[in-house]
Amino acid sequence: MALSSLLFTIASLLLAGLSTAKYIVPGGRWHDIDGKLISAHAGCVTVEEATGKFWLFGEYKIEGQTEGGGVSVYSSDDLATWESHGLALAPVKGHAYIAPSNIIQRPKVVYSKAGDEYHMFWHADNSTYGLLLQGFARSPNISGPYTFVSATAPMGNWSQDFGMFTDYKDGRSYSLYSNGDRKEGRDVYIASYNNDTTGLDKVIHRFDKYDLEAPGIIQTEKSYFALMSHKTGYRPNNVVAFRADSLAGPWSQPFMVAPLNTRTFSSQSGFNLRIKGSKRTTWLFFGKVDIWLPVDIDEQRKSLSLVWNDVYDLNAKTGEWAAVEGKSYSAATSAKTNGAAFKQEASFASHGTIATGIYGNDSTVTFEGIEGTGQPQWVSFYYQNTDDMGYGDQPGGSPDRINGTWQLRRIASVVVNGNTSKVESLFQRDTHKGIILSTPLLLPLDKGRNNRITVGGLFNGFDYKGADLDRIVVYPPEKASRRAR
Ligand SMILES: *[C@@H]1O[C@H](CO)[C@@H](O)[C@H](O)[C@H]1NC(C)=O
Ligand SMILES: *[C@@H]1O[C@H](CO)[C@@H](O)[C@H](O)[C@H]1NC(C)=O
Ligand SMILES: *[C@@H]1O[C@H](CO)[C@@H](O)[C@H](O)[C@H]1NC(C)=O
Ligand SMILES: *[C@@H]1O[C@H](CO)[C@@H](O)[C@H](O)[C@H]1NC(C)=O
Ligand SMILES: *[C@@H]1O[C@H](CO)[C@@H](O)[C@H](O)[C@H]1NC(C)=O
Ligand SMILES: *[C@@H]1O[C@H](CO)[C@@H](O)[C@H](O)[C@H]1NC(C)=O
Ligand SMILES: *[C@@H]1O[C@H](CO)[C@@H](O)[C@H](O)[C@H]1NC(C)=O
Repeated sequence: MALSSLLFTIASLLLAGLSTAKYIVPGGRWHDIDGKLISAHAGCVTVEEATGKFWLFGEYKIEGQTEGGGVSVYSSDDLATWESHGLALAPVKGHAYIAPSNIIQRPKVVYSKAGDEYHMFWHADNSTYGLLLQGFARSPNISGPYTFVSATAPMGNWSQDFGMFTDYKDGRSYSLYSNGDRKEGRDVYIASYNNDTTGLDKVIHRFDKYDLEAPGIIQTEKSYFALMSHKTGYRPNNVVAFRADSLAGPWSQPFMVAPLNTRTFSSQSGFNLRIKGSKRTTWLFFGKVDIWLPVDIDEQRKSLSLVWNDVYDLNAKTGEWAAVEGKSYSAATSAKTNGAAFKQEASFASHGTIATGIYGNDSTVTFEGIEGTGQPQWVSFYYQNTDDMGYGDQPGGSPDRINGTWQLRRIASVVVNGNTSKVESLFQRDTHKGIILSTPLLLPLDKGRNNRITVGGLFNGFDYKGADLDRIVVYPPEKASRRAR
């Protein structure tokens, strides 16, 4: 076979292999097929027994109702195209456990073979986190509506951030929870459910006094990896994992799953999905908020790590995924500063220089000569935000000692080609000093090489600062449409 036709064959095979693939964009704002923002936080994806369909459950949060909004549900065949089915568990006014004033967090849904129905569990609490219970609701239909059954203390103990795991080898489910912040607590439990997954029957293991939370388990042929967060409230932190041959242990020492000080690429642990594809098994880490990352597992070294890509192609049928290549424009060479914004030497920056002093509408940075296709494209903004003053994983610290209030994130404004009637807000979480992370936005770039992207600062509740910028990376548009087919 001639080289050119061989290359052509390889290219066609590659294209065929990826033809059902869809982009996954960690940290991006995801929309359902009706164009509405997906609101399903800190939840899970459950695979429907009969159909193989993926069902996404999560906390429904809207402006002005960030807790107690109930549990939303979406379905998908490919993990990228999501159809909304409304609320699977709706809050009930005046209810002791699922009123809008309650905490309804970290919902998980499993199939109960015994009852041929679906069971939902979550962290049930009152607004001051004084109850520390596990909620239980059931439905004959995976999409719901789920009917509240109970909210109970697992084996009489407290239960904070709730996780769940089902062993693919024997089908048994496990409740994973920390027993709170009190001195007597600060443990993480693995407890098994009874045969019909209606209640717990025994404690399998207790991770003693590590003071971690938000547990999730990844199961491979050989190993169990338990991933957990440090207790830093809504702030991201450096997630750790433990490994064992059996759920009862012995468990290894905890180890980091992402490069140090990236705070797990600005996320926290929660849930992990095993995709048993026709070609390979892939595990996805679901971090708070909306950060889905493939997991690289090394059984020889008894270790795992999360793999960051701004944009990747995932084929949920075959289990294969591949990074999408973008075009990079550095602040050092492709940007102009305006007002008080300026370029500063930074040894950790990709080109030794970072753009800083971004503030409001006047002190901005404009990237020029950006190539676009005329279709919406994901653009990742690489930034450093040191508002946290070097805050790490320690609970209850006081990060900002310079007479301020700790700030979760800065918000930058992004304007394409000077169109100020469409100002995008770019959330820039705090990073460690010298750590550059990225946040993507889907932007309408014109066809050609003359696009301009201007970044300023919006009000984050405290100030109008934008984070320091290292570079932007522009990704090709997705081939397949996500709209209703
Ligand atoms: C939450 O429950 C705890 C324990 O019963 C109680 O002390 C606390 O007052 C409750 N908080 C609210 C807001 O009802
Ligand atoms: C289950 O939910 C689906 C999707 O929401 C709906 O089409 C179907 O009618 C429901 N089935 C039952 C038995 O409620
Ligand atoms: C929960 O478990 C801890 C030990 O892990 C124990 O000290 C504590 O008393 C228990 N709390 C309750 C309410 O049972
Ligand atoms: C649960 O199922 C196992 C086997 O699947 C069986 O041995 C056991 O007796 C069952 N336990 C209960 C309480 O039904
Ligand atoms: C920036 O401009 C917008 C209107 O384009 C205005 O609403 C906002 O207040 C301005 N912000 C500052 C900090 O001047
Ligand atoms: C500290 O903050 C207070 C209240 O915001 C303000 O009145 C005071 O001037 C600040 N002090 C310094 C040293 O910035
Ligand atoms: C500017 O943005 C608005 C809002 O999205 C849009 O309607 C308008 O067509 C844009 N103008 C240009 C020149 O692209």
